[in-house]
Amino acid sequence: MNTYDLIMKKRNGNALDKDEITYIVNGFTDGTIPDYQMSAFLMALFFKGMNDRETTDLTMAMADSGDRLDLSGIHGRKVDKHSTGGVGDKTSLVVGPILASLGVPVAKMSGRGLGHTGGTIDKLEGIPGFKTAITEEAFIDQVNNVNLAIVGQTANLAPADKKIYALRDVTATVDNISLIASSIMSKKLAAGADAIVLDVKVGTGAFMKNIDDAKALAKEMVSIGKMAGRDVTAVITDMNEPLGNNVGNILEVVEAVECLKGKGEERLMKVSKTLASYMLLASGKADSVDKAMEMINEVIDSGKAFEKMKEFVEAQGGDSSYLDDIDKFEKTEHERIVKGKDLIDFYGLSADKTYYLSECNNEEIGMTSLILGGGRRTKEDVIDLSVGIILHKHLGDEIKPDDTVAVLYGNVVEKTDEAFKRFVNAYKLSDKEVVKNPIVYDIIEG
Ligand code: URA
Repeated sequence: MNTYDLIMKKRNGNALDKDEITYIVNGFTDGTIPDYQMSAFLMALFFKGMNDRETTDLTMAMADSGDRLDLSGIHGRKVDKHSTGGVGDKTSLVVGPILASLGVPVAKMSGRGLGHTGGTIDKLEGIPGFKTAITEEAFIDQVNNVNLAIVGQTANLAPADKKIYALRDVTATVDNISLIASSIMSKKLAAGADAIVLDVKVGTGAFMKNIDDAKALAKEMVSIGKMAGRDVTAVITDMNEPLGNNVGNILEVVEAVECLKGKGEERLMKVSKTLASYMLLASGKADSVDKAMEMINEVIDSGKAFEKMKEFVEAQGGDSSYLDDIDKFEKTEHERIVKGKDLIDFYGLSADKTYYLSECNNEEIGMTSLILGGGRRTKEDVIDLSVGIILHKHLGDEIKPDDTVAVLYGNVVEKTDEAFKRFVNAYKLSDKEVVKNPIVYDIIEG
């Protein structure tokens, strides 16, 4: 086989067979295919696309490029979740303890974040003592004992995806549905769960900017799961503004605790409960979504879900007293309040009228968090886990000059000032009432 011929075949719009796809993936992973040929191949694929069979073959080749996690030592049906990513998305921290308290084993490998905030692993590291690197044996034992373990992704899980993703990132080939679907599903298949619930985000803070693309991505991933013999459901949810009130690593842990105590922000609660209900259905512990919701509400109301969060944190070496008393968490040195007047002045509007938050450029909110120090621009950046944003208003809310729209928490005054300018620029105001977006748009079941 010859890489040049395969690039040309894809460039001319022809489908590649399984052996050809495996040849490209393995050759690039072991270094025999150089970056410049792989870049050309990815760009050809970006423009000419792949059919479902090719996308599944690409997924399998990447999933088989490293170790597959063997979860056979865990009793029961293992259920995993994955979000395509967004601002303020802390649902794993809510859903994991809920399911574990209902007896569903959740063995989760999570990534570190590159972008506006950390990933789930970074957030958990905000809890003093919490260890995210434990042996595979300890991971399996913990899931058998506590029903929940969340650890950092091992280096050798789908290494082909890691290398290809790094190249996509610098060759403008990330936002292609086949490439995103195969990248996500290769890691999920290698991570070994029997059933997977995907949270496919759509909106200004997501890879998918419109519902049609989000549905196409969801269908592609569900179809890959089916061909690989896994039970996959996708929930399509809104990411036109941050999810919940808090953006930032420790702030998101705090908000997850509020949710587990039943006091979380409405839209965040809805997404978390919807994901948990489909995971419960996939686990076989509930036979309908209504029954699943009933079970979820019971473990939240009775405090069992919150107790499970503490048990899980202790099992991974964390100090759960911080969850009982969130005031113990490290505070930032500076707070900057964003008032309605700041937005009204920014747009040169009259302070005498009533306005509504009408649009949010969610990527700009992500940038605000990054500027405060809450995210990484490069893998080497060190995150400041204490910084972030608490939103007091959401899209559709009325804004008066004296209203607090948000509070920015930072440790470096210049960064907090810069973040303030970025934040003000992220919203638009309208003098007409604004209809709020739905939070769950659709469910694609496998
Ligand atoms: N997340 C992934 O893991 N891969 C992609 O390609 C996009 C989002």
